[in-house]
Amino acid sequence: MMAKPYIAIDGPAGAGKSTVARALAKKLGYIYIDTGAMYRAVTLMALREGIDLRDQDSLSQLARTVSIELLPDYDGGLKVLLNGDDVSGDIRSQQVSQNVSLVAMAPGVRKHLVELQRAMASRGGVVMEGRDIGTVVLPEAPVKIFLTASHQERARRRREELAAKGNIIAQEQMEKEIMIRDQIDSTRATDPLTQAADAIPIDSTSFSVNEVVGMIMARIPAVEERS
Ligand code: DC
Repeated sequence: MMAKPYIAIDGPAGAGKSTVARALAKKLGYIYIDTGAMYRAVTLMALREGIDLRDQDSLSQLARTVSIELLPDYDGGLKVLLNGDDVSGDIRSQQVSQNVSLVAMAPGVRKHLVELQRAMASRGGVVMEGRDIGTVVLPEAPVKIFLTASHQERARRRREELAAKGNIIAQEQMEKEIMIRDQIDSTRATDPLTQAADAIPIDSTSFSVNEVVGMIMARIPAVEERS
């Protein structure tokens, strides 16, 4: 029997990757892997330990020593365990969001997390989302999506997510934060955010999650939808 394929979803912050990847994984009965959560977990640990975030050697050392586990949640999401503790909420804090791009620049951190990600995906049947999945982590993935949206729309979605948790942020500030992260993520020396040559670009600005999932489903060759 042919192994179930990998689906790689890349794109900038706030393009809707997590929501779409989660919905797609549920529809296909695949495992959902959020690689950003892994960079966030290392960032959280570095902040807790007071590590200088420009000290790439210390960050790499830290990434090799912490244990990061992603466990499927009851609602199709993921529970993130850092050294056994549930940090699913803590990794979404503004402090982590504002610093994670810096940590994700460290080549040693990336090398270790990419190895973990490949091991997690080794049996196939996964929807993996991030910034370098189609280019670096799973370059052989048969379906690669590059999901984008206008930066105003991405900021609006992020604000909505944060507002639901009681965290009110001005649109202007959110747009600025998103642009700074985009800039760091796409210009870093190691594995920058870039569209794979064979990725399908989808601009989600004016589409619903269901519509985007439908567009991706239409590009998956011969997979059976879970009934
Ligand atoms: O998707 P996210 O916002 O949770 O990602 C957090 C950060 O992690 C993002 O700013 C860049 C980094 N990241 C990365 O460099 N490579 C990945 N595969 C996933 C995320």
